[in-house]
Amino acid sequence: MPDLGRGQSRITIVSMKVALGVSGGIAAYKAAELVRLLQDHGVRVQVIMTRAAQEFVRPLTFAALSGEKVITDLFGEGAQEPNIESAVEHIAVAQTIDALVVAPATADIIAKFANGLAGDFLSTLFVATTAPVVVAPAMNVNMWENTATQENIQKLRARGVHVVEPDSGYLACGMVGAGRLAANETIVKAVLEALGAVQDLTGETVLITAGPTREPIDPVRYIGNRSSGKMGFALAEAALRRGAKVVLVSGPTALKPPSAAEVIQVQTAREMRDAVFANLERATVVIKAAAVADFTVKNCSDTKIKRSGALQLELEPTPDILKEVAAHKGHRIVVGFAAETHDTLENARKKLQSKSLDAIVLNDVSQPGIGFDSERNAVTILTATESIEVPEMSKWEVAHRVLDVIVKSRAQRGVSAR
Ligand code: CTP
Repeated sequence: MPDLGRGQSRITIVSMKVALGVSGGIAAYKAAELVRLLQDHGVRVQVIMTRAAQEFVRPLTFAALSGEKVITDLFGEGAQEPNIESAVEHIAVAQTIDALVVAPATADIIAKFANGLAGDFLSTLFVATTAPVVVAPAMNVNMWENTATQENIQKLRARGVHVVEPDSGYLACGMVGAGRLAANETIVKAVLEALGAVQDLTGETVLITAGPTREPIDPVRYIGNRSSGKMGFALAEAALRRGAKVVLVSGPTALKPPSAAEVIQVQTAREMRDAVFANLERATVVIKAAAVADFTVKNCSDTKIKRSGALQLELEPTPDILKEVAAHKGHRIVVGFAAETHDTLENARKKLQSKSLDAIVLNDVSQPGIGFDSERNAVTILTATESIEVPEMSKWEVAHRVLDVIVKSRAQRGVSAR
């Protein structure tokens, strides 16, 4: 992943178009620089301003910077009578953009998006477009932390919107806390990732395991765990966007897999192991995000066990798939996950070494609100030489930070994927 900071390497995209929605907050002025930064990557920018945004910055500023007419109204700026051309403009824009980015996104526009309201151009465009959407919120800390805002953000994330977390610090209102618009470089990075413009995994075949496994007790009961598969699915989607082929071996989840991934559904740890080994030969990268059951029931019953007194189950260990994969590693980059509740760093380091991994993603699952069945995660990525803290963010963003480490490992090894 190229560093998109100033003076760093740059990705140039030819003929991609991004709609930049600017909603009404003090940070609206920062969107002017965002236009320039996106253009630096060869992206055409169509600016859309809400009415409130126009109280902070004049549309002329954005028109001059973008070189395009700024859309300020659902029915055309200053139109006495709505005409058919302006009335369907949101559909035309919706069909021609490669991504929609909203920066700054106020609590109001986030609420509209989350509830499908379509009373102005920007919210109508959001409902009408099928392009990826990136939202960068900026507001007062209490507004950001308000339950309604957080629930709206969760809804958007669950629907695949990429939320660029606001930074913490001094806010325009004089308070200190989370709510400051993320750095423009961070927003640009998220847009390029959403556009699929970062193609640094081309040539790689990434084998990803996701979700829980279920170990049957009898035909109706099983031993399972709280994994939702969201982290593994986010990794699959992010890797596809970055040019990789993806084989996704998934335990039972309620998630819709990315359509471009080759998906193999499994139930048990044994089935997951067999699916992994059936596809290992062609894999150049293996990421084991699955929460594999450590034990399976030895005396699994073929018929439903009746409730008659205490039940004794004999458990036996499942195969350690990751360890076996690492033993057949070859040129592959192998990444594991470690779900820990105590002595987290120490335990993860042990797994990194004992399973001969290139990297391990440490999840402290004792922290509430992140990890299991959450849209968000906070992890530490350990390699032999580095310890990278990834603060709480969406699983989509965490996925990209994991992929960054894989790309770096590949470059350091100086060996091609094949
Ligand atoms: N893993 C695996 N096969 C297993 C158990 C775990 O491939 N039977 C993988 C997981 O997918 C994860 C890594 O090993 O990438 C670590 O899983 P975790 O449950 O944290 O650790 P374990 O090795 O099972 O050790 P323990 O449960 O004792 O902490």
